[in-house]
Amino acid sequence: MKKILFASSEIHPLIKTGGLADVAGSLPKALADIGQDIRLIIPNYQSIKDIDQPRYVCTLRVDNRDVNILETRLPGTEVIIWLVDYRPFFDFPGNPYVDEQGNPWFNIAERFTLYCRIVIEVAMNRAYLDWQPDIVHGNDWQCGLIPALLSLETAPPASIFTIHNMAYQGTFPHSTFVQLNLPGQLWNPEGLEFHNMLSFLKGGLTFSDRITTVSPTYAQEIQTPEFGYGLEGLLSYKSDVLSGILNGMDLQQWNPNDDDHLVQNYSISTLKNKLANKTALQEAMGLPVNESLPVFGLISRLVDQKGIDLVLACLPQILDMPLQLVLLGSGDKGIEQKLQNFALHYPEKLAVTIGYNEALAHQIEAGSDIFLMPSRFEPCGLNQMYSQRYGTIPIVRKTGGLADTIEDALPHTIAEGIATGICFDEATPSAFLEAIKRTLVLFESKTHWRKIQQAAMKKDFSWENSAHQYLAIYNAL
Ligand code: ADP
Ligand code: GLC
Repeated sequence: MKKILFASSEIHPLIKTGGLADVAGSLPKALADIGQDIRLIIPNYQSIKDIDQPRYVCTLRVDNRDVNILETRLPGTEVIIWLVDYRPFFDFPGNPYVDEQGNPWFNIAERFTLYCRIVIEVAMNRAYLDWQPDIVHGNDWQCGLIPALLSLETAPPASIFTIHNMAYQGTFPHSTFVQLNLPGQLWNPEGLEFHNMLSFLKGGLTFSDRITTVSPTYAQEIQTPEFGYGLEGLLSYKSDVLSGILNGMDLQQWNPNDDDHLVQNYSISTLKNKLANKTALQEAMGLPVNESLPVFGLISRLVDQKGIDLVLACLPQILDMPLQLVLLGSGDKGIEQKLQNFALHYPEKLAVTIGYNEALAHQIEAGSDIFLMPSRFEPCGLNQMYSQRYGTIPIVRKTGGLADTIEDALPHTIAEGIATGICFDEATPSAFLEAIKRTLVLFESKTHWRKIQQAAMKKDFSWENSAHQYLAIYNAL
């Protein structure tokens, strides 16, 4: 049995902005289920919800600040979560990265530095918890200083760092490095320095014993300039300790046969009951109720990564086709505005909801026939997995985890009963439109469509397999 300290800036259901939370809320559960002693650590943000009243554990003094550690459990499990409680940093509304107005926290570097320092205290068993991990597992740039600071300790636990997204690096000017009081020996090009900037992500990549990312294809892609953002050289250099492990999904939370958000549950053997969800979605979105028109769904952070520009570029043509589109998302204000303008002009065909809405996300997955995910890059992606489980056929760009989780519907894959979605290669509006047209033709053939839905719903996206792959890495460290 390994003792693992798992650090993440978001954990579902406590706080979530994207798939990282889904992973941090479900991978530890899967590791606990296979007998590992895993504990989570996260800042105690004001917006944290759905937990039992935490218990005060201790106060630690780091960097001239008194920081409390509180303890609670991951809902529905015995997995311990430690909350890093420092009110001057975390007791504000907003999410982990931005305030209520959507502006990045002015002191975000200070916040996550303090968090990483506390992780080090826990990792080194200096936090009165009587528990020392064998492994510290950090995620994304917010945890990047953990391996860096651990490297300065005597006999530290092994470290593993998982990249969920190379596009967010946590880079700051050199003056921030000074202001953060970080040890001077970390400031060099073999350390935290990246083109004269402080890079949290580079700290994670440079100093960790093992690097993983969330799909095998993305593990290859990030070793190229197109996806590596200048860190491809470092990643290639460390390629012998870099691997891709596909995310699993939480099969309990995303189960069409047991999902409280749906008007009617369904499974592969009662697939006809999916229709009630489509009708309910059309009604709720104010779209004409029409069984035969395909409903396309899209749920996403509205940022460049997700290829929303491709959707915008072809929206007039898409909305000329016999279909409806239901979209849920938030992010870039310009994209939000453009989508809302389109919705005003096409009230019969397009419904846009701006915001974050967990229940509606489930209802769109269940009520749509087809799911759009034309990402420019996608480290793993979870919605295409949820879609497949809900018999909602994804159209995806063949990149990262999308390439690893979808079998394109081609004559031979359909014949073999293994096709589960529609893939396109080029990130261009014309390639995207072609994929949509190809999907509409398939949708017309009910026998083909049913076969694709069944293959998709049967796919195994459970965490079990991936949890064993993480365990194999922990054991090898
Ligand atoms: P990413 O982490 O890059 O945003 P993923 O596909 O891995 O992409 O995960 C996104 C997660 O966030 C999914 O669980 C998805 O349902 C959820 N999500 C994204 N936007 C919204 C939204 N506006 N409302 C509700 N859930 C959302
Ligand atoms: C990131 C990626 C997404 C991935 C998620 C969880 O946010 O953008 O592709 O699924 O992390 O690993």
